[in-house]
Amino acid sequence: MPTITVDGQGVEARPGQTVLQAALAANIYIPNLCYAEDLAPYGACRLCIVEIDGMRGLPAACSTIATEGMVVRTETPALMQARRMTMELLLSDHPDNCLVCRKNQRCELQRMAAYLGISERRLPRLERPTAFDESNPFFDRDLEKCILCGRCVRACDEVTQVNAIDYIYRGFATKIGAFLDQPLADSRCVSCGECLASCPTGALVEKSYYGLPDREVLTVCTYCGSGCSLYLQMRGDKIVGVRGDPANDASEGHLCVKGRFGYDFANHPDRLTAPLIRKNGALEPASWDEALDLVASKLAEHKGAFAGLASAKCTNEENYLLQKFTRAVMETNNIDHCARR
Ligand code: SF4
Ligand code: SF4
Ligand code: SF4
Ligand code: FES
Repeated sequence: MPTITVDGQGVEARPGQTVLQAALAANIYIPNLCYAEDLAPYGACRLCIVEIDGMRGLPAACSTIATEGMVVRTETPALMQARRMTMELLLSDHPDNCLVCRKNQRCELQRMAAYLGISERRLPRLERPTAFDESNPFFDRDLEKCILCGRCVRACDEVTQVNAIDYIYRGFATKIGAFLDQPLADSRCVSCGECLASCPTGALVEKSYYGLPDREVLTVCTYCGSGCSLYLQMRGDKIVGVRGDPANDASEGHLCVKGRFGYDFANHPDRLTAPLIRKNGALEPASWDEALDLVASKLAEHKGAFAGLASAKCTNEENYLLQKFTRAVMETNNIDHCARR
């Protein structure tokens, strides 16, 4: 375990940990934007620069491995000045429309600009060509707001392993895009939204953005038996968003398209909230007692002439119960599962 000194404080780093990771773990904040805990270091934004005794220049803390005896300074006037300059350059081609941006109040770029004390635009405005891609059914890409941090590219590569996007073109024309700069919907993108979840700016935003939640509720995704847990972001009784639960062993905070975006059914006006029983050819609302009594009596009538089809949406325990019910109660071995081929 190498021990380093950060701003005069002794910090124990895990072997292979970067200076940034060791400092953050010891509650010493170093500004960063292109760093994400679950992605490989990239060193794109240059906001995490530090001074390290014996090292030339201002190394990026996110891509410098902590080694025994390192002496690191994170907040000298020179560092803060360099970071402010970097931020001003980042903002020089960034639109000034936070108020109408769907990332407003949850934007890391906005927070970082405030942290660094940026309160005016000193540099001449550079116009980036508008690059808006609405082709994905679940999220939009507004690349005028992209800071080229590469978190989306790394998420698509390292987490999803789909590699639908990468840096394309060169110089000031560089942007993030799919193969041949085609719309995302025509690419190999599987709409998992990992890029969106990692993006620190309004360059990637949900189509169904309903505003900030007032609380989060931890639950398990309803779509399959993998058991990914997620936080439903709630405002009143309405689900306004979903975020993966990093503490969940099955998913480590990552979600697929269904878990991340498929929650509209919960608040949909067509959703059935009471059982319906067909009476005289028409479906009529009924109480749960009435519906369950009817189901139980019909099942009793059909003992031995029954087949159960279990579902991949159920947990192991629910599938076990269904086979037990089919064999022990319905007295038949006609039990199968939708995922069997
Ligand atoms: S991406 Fe962030 S900084 Fe840029 S306009 Fe949107 S909220 Fe403002
Ligand atoms: S939605 Fe998923 S597959 Fe599509 S670009 Fe983003 S990370 Fe890649
Ligand atoms: S789209 Fe977002 S995550 Fe991707 S490079 Fe741009 S700012 Fe970074
Ligand atoms: S966080 Fe280190 S360079 Fe971006």
